[in-house]
Amino acid sequence: MVGAFRVLSKSLRHYKPKASIFPDNSLTPTPNQWLHQTRRTLILESAPSHSVNLHRLSDADSGIVEVCLDRPQVRNAIGKDMLKGLENTLEAISKDSSANVLLLRSKVPKVFCAGADLKERKMMSATEVRDFVNKLRATFSFLEVLPIPTIAVIEGAALGGGLEMALSCDLRICGEDAVLGLPETGLAIIPGAGGTQRLPRLVGRSIAKELILTGRKIDGREAMSMGLVNYCVHAGEAYIKALEVARNINDKGPIAIRMAKRAIDQGLEVDRSSALALEEECYEQTLHTKDRLEALAAFAEKRKPRYIGK
Ligand code: COA
Repeated sequence: MVGAFRVLSKSLRHYKPKASIFPDNSLTPTPNQWLHQTRRTLILESAPSHSVNLHRLSDADSGIVEVCLDRPQVRNAIGKDMLKGLENTLEAISKDSSANVLLLRSKVPKVFCAGADLKERKMMSATEVRDFVNKLRATFSFLEVLPIPTIAVIEGAALGGGLEMALSCDLRICGEDAVLGLPETGLAIIPGAGGTQRLPRLVGRSIAKELILTGRKIDGREAMSMGLVNYCVHAGEAYIKALEVARNINDKGPIAIRMAKRAIDQGLEVDRSSALALEEECYEQTLHTKDRLEALAAFAEKRKPRYIGK
């Protein structure tokens, strides 16, 4: 079976799809989406992991999904098994049309994620390290291009790859005791899973350079002042705040939410007139939906709309 999937992996690199296989339904893949193709195959080859769990909330909260990191013995450090777990889980979410918003959180007290598994890394050859970091980068890129909004819930340490994972989410909410940093240069490497690219795009070149070149760790309040996180709340309350934000998103028209994310993310990568054309294309996707008509009916009837994502 695994052999067959490897063959598939090779052929996928030259495959031009007729119908979109990408999370944003586009036919023309971006570099990230080509990474996604390779990553899909990795998922097919992978085994289940116990260190990453997927929970779907129910009743009034159905549509909110939680990805929980749970590897307490190494403070959620990401090794090969955990990376496979993340790949599998994100793949499942990307195919789930009932998922509207994702919370990425830790089940381990006082830590979000301690970054790459440095004990496992010590046993790897340079080639193995390169392969691992490439897979990690591709997985975080896939997290970034998921069609639904993603929120990182940060309590305690988010270091190295842990912060890079949070940077790949749409929003970040932390407790004031959070410790955030990219300490890689102190380990004689650089952030290799998107950190050198996503941090400066979020906080600006100068602040990103200071944090990466010195490896300095910051707390939640400083992260908030830099615009690195959307909210900094009392320690232990990040999940409550994140759930409140997720509920706010979950209330909205699901197709509108996906199109808004797509218009912002893809629009920022192109020139202004292309970006406005993209906005038009995304608006068009909302135009012929039952949810748009339901919104107008609900407004006229002075009641809350009931969206179905169609
Ligand atoms: N990889 C592998 N193991 C790790 C790890 C990592 N990134 N981070 C922590 N661990 C292990 C520790 O080695 C320790 O194992 P031990 O019990 O066998 O000694 C265990 O997790 C607990 O770590 P400890 O430091 O005692 O926990 P803490 O709660 O006091 O501190 C952290 C947690 C995350 C702040 C601290 O462990 C830390 O700074 N880790 C390194 C983070 C880092 O530099 N990441 C960047 C990677 S590029």
